[in-house]
Amino acid sequence: MQAPVSEVTVRDFREDDLRRIYEIEVLSFKYPWSMRAFIAVQNMGAKIVVAEHRNYGVIGFAIFRVERTRSAILGHLMNIAVHPEFRRKGIGSLLLRTFEEKCTSRGAEYAYLEVRISNTAAISFYKKHGYKIWGARKGYYSNGEDALIMIKRLR
Ligand SMILES: CC(C)(COP(=O)(O)OP(=O)(O)OC[C@H]1O[C@@H](n2cnc3c(N)ncnc32)[C@H](O)[C@@H]1OP(=O)(O)O)[C@@H](O)C(=O)NCCC(=O)NCCS
Repeated sequence: MQAPVSEVTVRDFREDDLRRIYEIEVLSFKYPWSMRAFIAVQNMGAKIVVAEHRNYGVIGFAIFRVERTRSAILGHLMNIAVHPEFRRKGIGSLLLRTFEEKCTSRGAEYAYLEVRISNTAAISFYKKHGYKIWGARKGYYSNGEDALIMIKRLR
C-alpha cells in the first residue's frame, strides 16, 4: 500500500490506540504480547509512540523506557512493529529515530534492545541504523529462543 513517510507523523499513544496496536502486534509476531502487557509496561515506566498515517490511521508503534544503571543511562527499545502492508517504506526508521531522540533528550548515552536470533529482518534493520551485536541471552524468550542484545552509542 502507498504510504509515503511524509504523510506519517509520530505522536504519543492514546488509550483509544490500544486495539489497533494490538492488531499490529498480532500480525507482526508469532508470540505476541497480550493486550494487558501493553498496559502493564506503561505502569512500569515505558512510553508508547505511534506512527499515524493521515489516511490510514495508526500503522506502527514503538515502546521504550529510559533505564538508569550505576554507570550509564540507557534507552531500552522494548517493542517496535509496523503493519505488514506498510513495511519497507521508512516507517520503522521514523519510529526508531523518535525512540533515539526521546531517549537522548532524557540523558541516555546508549540505546539497546533484544531481538530474536531468528529475526533476520529486524537484525538487518537495526544494523542499518548503527546497532552492533553486544552479546546474547540464552533462552531469553518463552519458547526457549536466544536473544541477541544490540546496542548503539547515541552521543
Ligand atoms: C523491523 C520493522 C519494524 C522494520 O520496519 P520498516 O518500516 O519495514 O523499516 P524501514 O522501511 O524503515 O526499513 C529500513 C531498512 O531496514 C532494513 N530492513 C527492513 N526490513 C527488512 C527486511 N525484511 N529484510 C532485510 N532488511 C530489512 C533495510 O535496510 C531497510 O532499508 P531498505 O528498505 O532501503 O532496504 C518491521 O519489519 C516489523 O514490524 N517487523 C515485525 C516486528 C519485528 O520483528 N519487530 C522487531 C522486534 S525486535
